[in-house]
Parts: sequence; structure tokens; C-alpha cells
Amino acid sequence: MNKKFYITTPVYYVNDIPHIGHAYTTIGADVLARYKRSKGFDVFFLTGTDEHGQKVAQAAEREKKNPKEFVDSIVDSYKKTWDLLQITNDDFIRTTDDRHIKAVQGIFKTLLEKGLIYKGIYEGWYCVSCETFVLQGQTLDANDLPFRVCPDCHGETKILKEESYFFKLSAFEDKLLVLYAENPDFVQPKSRLNEVVNFVKQGLKDLSITRTTFNWGVPVPNDSKHVIYVWFDALINYISAIGYPDGEKFKKYWPADIHLMGKEIVRFHAVIWPAILMAIEFPLPKKVFGHGWWTVEGRKMSKSLGNTVDPIKMSENYGVDAFRYFVLREVSFGNDGDFSTQSFINRYNADLANDLGNLLSRTLTMIEKYFEGKVPDVKDNAFDPLSRDIINLIKQTPSKFDECIDRLAFSEALECVWILISFANAYIEQEAPWALEKKGETEKLSCVLFNLYEALRIVAALVSPFMPGSSLEIWKQLNFPQEPQSISLNPFGMKIAGIVIKKGQPLFPRLNK
Ligand code: MSP
Repeated sequence: MNKKFYITTPVYYVNDIPHIGHAYTTIGADVLARYKRSKGFDVFFLTGTDEHGQKVAQAAEREKKNPKEFVDSIVDSYKKTWDLLQITNDDFIRTTDDRHIKAVQGIFKTLLEKGLIYKGIYEGWYCVSCETFVLQGQTLDANDLPFRVCPDCHGETKILKEESYFFKLSAFEDKLLVLYAENPDFVQPKSRLNEVVNFVKQGLKDLSITRTTFNWGVPVPNDSKHVIYVWFDALINYISAIGYPDGEKFKKYWPADIHLMGKEIVRFHAVIWPAILMAIEFPLPKKVFGHGWWTVEGRKMSKSLGNTVDPIKMSENYGVDAFRYFVLREVSFGNDGDFSTQSFINRYNADLANDLGNLLSRTLTMIEKYFEGKVPDVKDNAFDPLSRDIINLIKQTPSKFDECIDRLAFSEALECVWILISFANAYIEQEAPWALEKKGETEKLSCVLFNLYEALRIVAALVSPFMPGSSLEIWKQLNFPQEPQSISLNPFGMKIAGIVIKKGQPLFPRLNK
């Protein structure tokens, strides 16, 4: 039986339409999902939306809509964006789905019965914008403002005093520390693990997990003046979507192999989520990965600054694949990065139009010109030292690429592919097929074009998870009979002689600055 691979993105808040930040996580997850499928894994890829809470209720109010009507419209824009970006999620969970609400209420009841949820009074500083209580010692003095602000978003915090149910998070402190010590890869990158460990070592307080000040949330079973705290509600999506507690998919796919997210919410996933799972006695996810954040031209992205980058516009203007490629190539996945249209255009022209696009069109033009469009047969494709070098590189690149993807080093993985592309372009310059043709060195000429065809075929297969459409287009032009996704089934050295290529339009037309 195939090995399974369960991957998730966060469920995104629906107070606004998706931007490059949301697209970033989702594209990263999609690349991993496609890659694992190509390796024969039985993949389940989940994304969705987080629809409850005060912030969403307030956004609906601003638009003079009722919350459900409001969230429906935003959910639509998420789904449309993921379709356009060719995201291959297997399901889309909404925290307003019945299946989800039932699971949340079921877990609440179970923990109440086990004494791991109890009723008390909560008094504390609450940040509405982050939907989270902030420890008093962590709130910040905001110069001349009459309130203290949240250390994360610098928004207003308020003192809240209300009857609340608590989750006994404190009971899991030691177990969590053991988890991190025994599984040093549980949280990645490593720096994020250190932050989490330090946070837990400072001591965990029980977590207030219900609110009575608004009602847009999952009602507490048999006490509906309380609604369940958004984070307690939202984290459960990862199991409610696959049929917790006894559905077939749940049995097959849980535990998740990786939860992917931005760095700011690693703590929720590495502390509260495992504690909930320990409390209900289900296995823990294998890995929590927090990627970095995008700024735009050096500034934090925000609606009020009007500088949010819209993935739909980017894809419409420059192509879906170019956008997918850029976000994962430009910065290492664990680090922060900065977006600017100029850096996008520079990278597009250099990597896609010049390097990859030219390699394809030059190679196919020469096969057309010198061999009437047929891949030449060769007796020895390692004809000279340079040819031996390119063959070695073609053979080594897939395993280097795999090693990078396994670490979620997407940018490095692409860099490996581009080393091969650059080498292939230099190979053309140095072997100068036009001169070989003039001199009548047909054997060497055949060898060079044969190797270039193979280089392109392997490149197309490797980039397929990142740029599915372009990869397919390259394979169409190469006219290789299989699907590009299955590189393991189509390694270097397949029978290619005699294939009639089908040169098409340039893949990545140059952009004007
Ligand atoms: N609803 C919670 C998550 C609950 S998961 C159980 C939430 N939603 S969110 O809409 O704010 O989305 C947060 C996610 O969006 C981040 O974890 C990250 O994946 C992505 N990003 C949002 N802004 C971002 C950037 N500026 N840069 C990169 N990614 C960021 O938090």
C-alpha cells in the first residue's frame, strides 16, 4: 500500500480577501502535496477558512451584513483564488461546517467529563485584533494612548472579566517539554522550536476557551451563552475535516505529517494543539513548520497602507506559474522576505525568460533546424568531457532536489534546477552546435542536442510541482509521451531518439521593466 501524507495549511480568517501571505503558505503546501504525489504517496491536502470570532463579526458589521452572509462571500474569494493558483487541495474545511461544529462540541464535552475543562472567571488583557489574551506583563505602553497595546500587532487591548470555561493547559507543561526534547524536529525551523520551548518553560496557565461577550462562534454544549474561543475551535479543523473520531479518512490520514503556517502562529500549533490532542488521547502531528513573513517594499503589508499584494492580479498580469515560482524562489521558506514589483520582474526575466525560456526555444529550434525536428539517435552521448559533465549533472540533480524538498528548502531546490539550466545554456555556448553543423561533425552535434533534450525533460519534471502548467507545456513541446509529474518513472536515459518535437510559443515572454 502507498504511504500516506497528510498536509495542512492554517484555516484563514475571513475578515478579508486572500493576499500574498495566505497564497504563500497555500502554494508551499501545494508544491509539497504535488511533489509527494509524484513520489507515489497517498496525499491528503487540506486548507480552509476560520470563520468565527469577534474580528469576523465586526468585519461583517462594518459591511452591514450578517456574519454568515459576510463569510460566504469571502470564502468564495478564497476558493476562486485557490482555483486560479491551481491549488490541488483535497478538501476545504469551513469552521462553520456542521461536521466541524459537531467535532468541536464533542471534544468540549469529552474534556469537560474528564475534568480537563472547568468553569471559572477570567480577567485579563485581550487583543481583539489577534483574538487572543495577552499576559499583562507583555502588553505595551503606547506612548500617549490611553490603553495598553498588544505586543504582536500593536492594536488596542482591553481588560475583559467574564465567566469562562478553562482548558487545563497547565497540566500538559511537562509532557510538552518531553515532546520537544524527544522530537527535536517537531517544530521547524529550529529557531522557532527554541522560542516555543522557552515559552513553555516560563510556565503555562490554564487557557480561557469560551467567551460570553459575543455570539458568533460554536456554542458550548448545554450552555449556549458561551461560545468557544476561536483558536480552540479552529485548531480542531485538522481532525474534524477528516472525520474525527472514527471516520475512515481519519483512521487513514491522522496524524498529520506536517502543519504548514506562518511563524506568528507556530506557538498555537506547537503548544495548545498538541495539548488538546494529548487531552483527548490522540496521536500528535509529526511536524509544525513556520515560514517567514512577506513585507512589501520594506513595509508591513496592511489594508490601511493599501499595499497588499493580490495573488489574482499577479497571476493575471504575469502568469500563475511565474507567481508560484517567484514566491518560493525569492526567499528561503523559513526566512522573512520582501516583495517588490521590480524584484519580481527582474527574477522573471533572468530565471524564466532568459534561462529556462531560452534553453527551451534554442534547443528545439536547433533540433528542428539540424534534424528536421527529430531527436537524433546517438551511439555515445558522453562524447566529450563537457557532455560527460552535463550528464553527471542531469543525473545528480534529482537527488539533490529531493533532499532540499524534504527539508522544505524550496528555494534551494529550485536553485539546484537552475544550476542545471545554466550549465545547459553554457553547454550550448561552448559546444556551439551551429559550428559543429558547419564542420559536419554530426555525431557530436547529435550528442549535444540529445543531452540538451534530456536536460530539459528532467528540468520540466522537477519543476512540475512548482510550475505545473509550464512543466506540462515544456513536455508538450518536447513531445515526450508520459506525464511530467512522474520523474521517478521517467528518469534520465529513457528512449527519446526519434521523438518528433513540437516547438510552440515562447513560454515566458520577456517583461518590460
Ligand atoms: N485563523 C488563523 C489560523 C488558524 S489555524 C488553526 C489565522 N488566520 S490568518 O488569516 O491570519 O492567516 C494566517 C496565515 O496567513 C499565516 O500563518 C501565514 O500562513 C499567512 N500570512 C498572513 N500574512 C502573511 C505575510 N505577510 N507573510 C507570509 N504569510 C503570512 O491566523
